[in-house]
Amino acid sequence: MTAMQIRVGNWKYQAVVGSKLLEKGGLRIRKVLRGPHCAIISDSNVAPLFGDRIRQRLTSSGFQPALITIPAGETSKTLEQVGAICDQMIAAGLDRQSFVIGLGGGMVGDISGFVAAIYERGIPHVQIPTTLLAMVDSSIGGKTGVNTRDGKNLIGAVHHPSLVIDDVDLLKTLPRREFNQGFAEIIKHAIIADAEMFTALRPVDLSNLAPLIRRNIEIKSRIVAKDELDQTGERALLNFGHTVGHAIERAGDYREFLHGEAVSLGIVAACVISIKKAGLPKDQREAIADLLSAFELPTRLPANFPREKILDGL
Ligand SMILES: NC(=O)c1ccc[n+]([C@@H]2O[C@H](COP(=O)([O-])OP(=O)(O)OC[C@H]3O[C@@H](n4cnc5c(N)ncnc54)[C@H](O)[C@@H]3O)[C@@H](O)[C@H]2O)c1
Ligand SMILES: [Zn+2]
Repeated sequence: MTAMQIRVGNWKYQAVVGSKLLEKGGLRIRKVLRGPHCAIISDSNVAPLFGDRIRQRLTSSGFQPALITIPAGETSKTLEQVGAICDQMIAAGLDRQSFVIGLGGGMVGDISGFVAAIYERGIPHVQIPTTLLAMVDSSIGGKTGVNTRDGKNLIGAVHHPSLVIDDVDLLKTLPRREFNQGFAEIIKHAIIADAEMFTALRPVDLSNLAPLIRRNIEIKSRIVAKDELDQTGERALLNFGHTVGHAIERAGDYREFLHGEAVSLGIVAACVISIKKAGLPKDQREAIADLLSAFELPTRLPANFPREKILDGL
């Protein structure tokens, strides 16, 4: 286990990455937060897997946790769900000294962070990501929020976590397709910031994952620190592949492709545009597409995909 110190503006927090971290999770949180009340927000897939364990660890460290479970899937990331969660937190007695734990993938991380940002005008947020995508990307950077009828992440707040606990053992139950999509963001980080990681990347097993996660947290947090509020253009680097990627995700009604899969296609599209407009050498596009394929990520749209809808989305 290694603790990383993350700084953004005047805010400082730790991200710990390693194995068997859940066991000591309560003690670790105790070092940072008082409570005693807290809410563990999770989804209907993740809560049955890890909810009880984390609740027990918190209780034995003197906290009074309430486990709040919402249905799994992107359709839960709504303002209605935020209201329902807040009602349950009020009923459980959470006050200004309380805090929120997000136990799940990026969906849970985003909505629980938003709840933490607005409950009692802001209480601390602890991220316990359970997907690779959430560990290397969404749990870092402080962007929280929900979707509306008209689009993704239209309502939100910047609210940085007080602690991030990345226990790689939690990824054992993650379906392979979900695991692979995390690599789209890792490959994105490699392309925008780390040529050495790009060359070294190959499929790894869980026991070798922690150093890779740490390196990705470093890349993302460094970029976020330079441009926390997305104003100078630096943070826009992290959107590489996302302009076309989001349009593809939407054209597929958020069902055809997972986020990382759409980003994989978006990265290839961005490379094609870069060849035409900015002189990117063709062999670099090939190298990037080959690496995405090595992680079973798509690099070509299916023949029957509604291409005109992508242009609408753009
Ligand atoms: N805030 C940010 O900076 C940021 C960045 C990237 C993505 N996001 C957001 O993250 C979300 C996508 O995140 P995601 O891909 O983690 O999706 P997700 O949270 O929906 O999780 C994917 C699926 O895996 C299941 N799951 C999670 N952990 C599991 C485990 N350990 N074992 C078995 N099943 C598990 C979930 O229940 C879900 O069905 C989107 O809402 C996106 O907008 C936010
Ligand atoms: Zn992304």
